[in-house]
Amino acid sequence: MNEVEHNGHIHRIRDITLEDRAGMDRVADLHIELLGFGPMAGLGRLFIKDACYANNMRDDQLKVAVYEIDGVAGGFVAYTDRSISFHRTSLKKHWVRTAFTLVRSLLQDPRRIGALMRALAVLGSRRTEHGVVGNDPMGEVVCVAVQSEYLKTEYRLPSGPRPGESLIAYAAHRLTDLGVDEMRMLVDADNKAVLFLYRALGARFEKYEQAGEPMVQVWFDLPLSNQELEIPWT
Ligand SMILES: CC(C)(COP(=O)(O)OP(=O)(O)OC[C@H]1O[C@@H](n2cnc3c(N)ncnc32)[C@H](O)[C@@H]1OP(=O)(O)O)[C@@H](O)C(=O)NCCC(=O)NCCS
Repeated sequence: MNEVEHNGHIHRIRDITLEDRAGMDRVADLHIELLGFGPMAGLGRLFIKDACYANNMRDDQLKVAVYEIDGVAGGFVAYTDRSISFHRTSLKKHWVRTAFTLVRSLLQDPRRIGALMRALAVLGSRRTEHGVVGNDPMGEVVCVAVQSEYLKTEYRLPSGPRPGESLIAYAAHRLTDLGVDEMRMLVDADNKAVLFLYRALGARFEKYEQAGEPMVQVWFDLPLSNQELEIPWT
């Protein structure tokens, strides 16, 4: 079953591919709208779409799924089974493409140079994780976000989960299918909403620092055992 009807709404989780131009545009829009505070969003929508999503999806390093309600994507999850290496691999393989996109983004708005410094600091910090945090294959939910109108109780499925929870469970199931046995997320320490969500799903938390910013590293053992995460798409 890949969709479910509840409260008069059709819920569905759909994988996005590079060829799905409308889907890619929607994910870039949702990222800028809901994750504008993140280190990459400051480089603009073009950079997010082409460098952060398309380049990583091109090598199947990053997978993206949207949560649709009545055909409208109201949230998405981006996840990888190569948490430790995906940034580095993508930059190495697609540096020309990335540099071109970066120049276009900076020409659109030269003030983005500040955002570039922040993004480079984050990438530098991730490089130091190799062999320290662990090795690939390791799962990571890179981003999860749901528009506020879809956070209402009305959109909670009868079996329990809200769209955000279903998206995390979906990523966890897909990563389990890929043979991954742990999944992490790096979360800003002040992002209470997502920390509450992960706590409710049974995650373990560890203090973490990324490029001088206080973070929480969130861990799940896979497969998830939480019964509430029985979602219709797995
Ligand atoms: C992360 C996200 C998907 C979580 O969605 P959600 O869990 O379905 O719903 P909410 O955000 O409404 O928060 C869920 C719970 O946390 C609680 N909560 C949210 N913010 C809180 C805060 N600042 N302080 C205390 N509690 C908070 C809510 O009361 C709610 O608890 P309840 O279910 O017991 O009422 C959603 O908040 C979102 O899209 N945020 C923007 C994007 C983002 O920051 N993503 C994470 C980084 S990648």
